[in-house]
Amino acid sequence: MLVAFPAAYLFGSACVDLFARATGRRRWFRTASHLNALGIASALAAAIPGLIDYMFVVPPKSSAKNRATDHMFANLSALAMFALARVGRREEDQPAAPWAMAAEVAGVGLLTTGGWLGGTLVYRNQIGVDHRYANAGKWRVEAIAAPATTIDAAAVGELDVNQMKLVRAGSKRIVLARTERGHVAFDDRCTHKGGPLSDGTLACGVVQCPWHGSQFGVASGAVEQGPAKDGIETYRVEECDGRVYITLG
Ligand code: FES
Repeated sequence: MLVAFPAAYLFGSACVDLFARATGRRRWFRTASHLNALGIASALAAAIPGLIDYMFVVPPKSSAKNRATDHMFANLSALAMFALARVGRREEDQPAAPWAMAAEVAGVGLLTTGGWLGGTLVYRNQIGVDHRYANAGKWRVEAIAAPATTIDAAAVGELDVNQMKLVRAGSKRIVLARTERGHVAFDDRCTHKGGPLSDGTLACGVVQCPWHGSQFGVASGAVEQGPAKDGIETYRVEECDGRVYITLG
């Protein structure tokens, strides 16, 4: 959890600044300045895995994507406020300009908002959480750059029964799954709020969304259990020469 470092340093710099100003202990302004520098540097480092998650892990067209966008803007704004506060610092043992202090306090508010959104992304949307269930097997994902009408999705025998594989074909996200009755393919996007079905659980021909528990029959795409009201799209699957092919629309 890299994010703990910038959060601690930046919150710390604001608290130490306020403490130094309230008590007149000027040497503490230097400590606040060092904490501010560490916070900005560690925030930039923590942004790299965050950006990778935003682009490749958070499902597109979902409530989590909107939340992740808000999270990113809250954190970037907080970082801008702390950078601004740094500009407003005077000599190391001198208090920062009042507007710099105000920027720092605004940064704390934005950082708190960003942290709350980030926590919701982990605990509610389960971004970055490993979901294991019986026979789930190893997480599998494959990207196909130029989607054709027919996708060569996997080798026969690559998946165990009740195991799923996410196939990214251009902008489409399709789940190839193996049930007791053979292979099936269906849209990864849950029709409720866009949850990733490939990250859910599959048993007895039914996939359950990890976000709010909607269930869909993977052969027909029909809703078995809400809150989702609309079914998911399914695709034709064929086996040929030891390979499993998905035919798109
Ligand atoms: S997103 Fe809510 S049940 Fe799937």
